[in-house]
This record gives sequence, structure tokens and C-alpha cells, in this order.
Amino acid sequence: MPVEEIVVGREPDDLAKYGKRGCMFIGKHIVGTGFEAHLTNPVLMDASRPHCVLIVGKRGSGKSYTGAVIAEEIMNLPDDIKNNISVVMIDTMGIFWSMKNPNEPGLLMLAEWELKPKGFGVRNIVPIGLTATYDKMGIAYDGTFSIKPSALTAGDWCLTFGINMFDPLGILIERTIHKMAGTDYSIADIVRTIESDQLVEPKERMALANRFLAAEGWGIFSEKATPITEFMQPGVVTVLDVSLQEWSVRNLMIGILAREIYEARVAARREEETALISGEVKARVPLTWLIMDEAHNFVPAAGETAATHDLLGLVTMGRQPGISTVFITQQPAKLHETVITQADLVIAHRLTAKPDLDALGAVMQTYALEDIRKMITDLPKSKGSAVILDDNSERIFNIQVRPRQSWHAGGTPIAIK
Ligand SMILES: Nc1ncnc2c1ncn2[C@@H]1O[C@H](COP(=O)(O)OP(=O)(O)OP(=O)(O)O)[C@@H](O)[C@H]1O
Ligand SMILES: [Mg+2]
Repeated sequence: MPVEEIVVGREPDDLAKYGKRGCMFIGKHIVGTGFEAHLTNPVLMDASRPHCVLIVGKRGSGKSYTGAVIAEEIMNLPDDIKNNISVVMIDTMGIFWSMKNPNEPGLLMLAEWELKPKGFGVRNIVPIGLTATYDKMGIAYDGTFSIKPSALTAGDWCLTFGINMFDPLGILIERTIHKMAGTDYSIADIVRTIESDQLVEPKERMALANRFLAAEGWGIFSEKATPITEFMQPGVVTVLDVSLQEWSVRNLMIGILAREIYEARVAARREEETALISGEVKARVPLTWLIMDEAHNFVPAAGETAATHDLLGLVTMGRQPGISTVFITQQPAKLHETVITQADLVIAHRLTAKPDLDALGAVMQTYALEDIRKMITDLPKSKGSAVILDDNSERIFNIQVRPRQSWHAGGTPIAIK
């Protein structure tokens, strides 16, 4: 008898029309608890429509691993679907480059799942100013990330410097950027403009000029910006390694990236609609999945970062232009509540802290928080076990996420050799 697959995240209309095409095989249903627990039906997750996915769980529970399984599964889709999708992974730990290599050590475990080790053609992008460091560490990369100073708003600079917009230095930033608006300025131009500002004391001018000069060391500025299409290639996973940067700079990079992905997809969506009407087809900018580890640092519950505005924009307005987000966090209680309330699919690995369990109460109103909490605390101890909450169908399942086909570089180290 064929095994019935469980499909999450897919509208009944799409299921009737497309069946299981465009779904990802993410794991298997766990039935029973404790010693009785065993794996049954495959669990498939929709990849064809935009989704807001949230992956939570305590340290070492399998979150980053699950994020990589999602990226692998998009790459495993048939070409005609895969080539309509691009994946951008924000790598805060420098662990996702390893997707290029097959998971040979996992050969036996994969065989139990009727899967084989496999490397994926991911593109590893590093900040332009840090290439010498990556070269020294012997880490290969396929491209660089850079932005022009003129792409930043006064708000971006203030948030990254940690300066209040309404403080004297914030006002000076605003005035400086305003003066240069419309030109293609460098950091040296910004410094010159600040130094020639007669409305503030020389001491303040110098203090701010020094902050801008230090920004040259962030490793991201260049006269030539990386076009966003570098990150939105059909059927390709692009990993942006931000692991060597400070959080304020990571936030800035991700804020700008999110803004540009949104703009590119809004423009593409308009062209797609025009093509539908006129029949004229242009080069495609694929639907995009943005996968982000340690998301509570980018969009925290309290306070604003340089990424907050644009990431929340993707979360609240990404559906129409076709942008999916996968936010991964150890601490959902520290994540901005919009991300939690907008999530339509939640993969909750083991989680014990009460505030973090409570934070999930905002996801699905149909289930009592007490029931969700019990399911999570009763999960089998195996790595990669999770509760999946599907707000589309208002159903909850216990699942075991499948083993990775590609090499997982985020393993737990051990002192015993
Ligand atoms: N689905 C799975 N199947 C088999 N092993 C898994 C699975 N998920 C995780 N593991 C194992 O658990 C380890 C920890 O997983 P992972 O790196 O994803 O943890 P994490 O939740 O991201 O932790 P942290 O919060 O510390 O980053 C992995 O190195 C892997 O060995
Ligand atoms: Mg992790």
C-alpha cells in the first residue's frame, strides 16, 4: 500500500491542481511517545508559494541543520520549478559553505531514509574588504559583497553607529547626507562635507568624521556595488558569510540586502504581470527564499537595528512579490513579535525556557498554548525532532527532520580525540 504523505503549507486548491509537485521532503511523522515513538509517513512542505517560516529550538537541537535541509530540498526540486526560485542564506557562523560537499560520513543514516550523500553547487559570497582574511584562512569563495556608501540612508548610518537621529551628531549626519543627495559620493566625500559644515563645533565635526573614517574598515564599501541579481540567480543557493563581522555591520548588510531583494521582486512582479497580459517574456528574477540564522539579533523584540525595518517589510509585504523568509532562533521570546505573528509554518525543535515556549502562543490561535507546549516538551530526545505548526491547515505534527545530504559544518565539537 502506498504511504500517505503529509503535506504542510499548501493550500487545498494548489494541492488539487498541482498534487505534490513543488513540495520539499523535510522529514517523517513521529507517531507515539517515549520508547513507542517511531517514524511513519513522509512530511512534505510547500516550496512553490511564499511562506514565513520560523525555526526555533534550544542550543544544539537541530535548527541550523533544518535550515540547510530546506535549502537542499529547494535544490532537489525539478529544474522547471527550481529555476523559478533563488535561495539566499545569511551565514552568521560560517557553516553553510560546506553544502558544496557530500555528507559521506552520513552514508548509513541516509541509506535508512533512502537518500544518498550529495554536494550542492552553492555560491559562497564574502565581504569585499575581507578577502585577504579568507585567503589567509584558506576558505574559498565564489564572489564578493560590496555596497556604495551612497546607498545608505541617514537612518542606516545612525543605526549602525548607534547614534540617535535626534542627537546633534544624528542631525549632522542627516544634513550631510541630504546635502549630497543624488550624487555618487564616497566616504571621503562625506568626511569633507562634514568638515566644511559651519553650523557645528569643530570638535563634533571631528568626532563624526572619525566615525565615518572607521567605517572604511567594515569591509563592505566599494565604488562598485554588487548587483542584487548576484544573489537572485535561478535555481542557486547563495551563501553570504557575515561570520567575521560585528553585529552592527551585519545588520546594515542584511537591511540593504533585504531592501534590494524586495525592490527587485516588486519590479519583477510587475514585469511578470505585464508578460501575462502581453505575452512578452523578459529575463527572470526568481522568487526568493531568505534563510537567516540567529534572527533575534537582526530583528530583536526590543530596540531597532539597521535590518529591522527592511526585514519586517519582507515579512509583512513579501507575499505579493513572492519572497519567503526562514527565520531561525534559539530565543523566540527575543524575536520581534511581527515575525512570530506572521509565521505560517513553525518548526519547533526542543525548547524548554518558559518565555520562549510562551512566545509561540502568538502563532496559532486554534491550539491551546498548553497543548503546543506539551507536544514540544514530549518530543523524542533525538536530534532533529520537532513539532511543526501549520497555520495554513491549522494542524500540528511531530516530525523527525531528515538527515542532510550535504556536509554539516556546524557539528558539536568534542574534546576527546
Ligand atoms: N535532523 C537531524 N538528523 C540527524 N542529526 C541531526 C539532525 N539535526 C541536527 N542533528 C545533529 O545535531 C547537531 C546540532 O544541530 P544544529 O547545528 O542544527 O544545532 P542548532 O540548533 O543550530 O544549535 P545552535 O543553537 O547551537 O546553533 C548537528 O551537528 C547534527 O549532528
Ligand atoms: Mg545553529
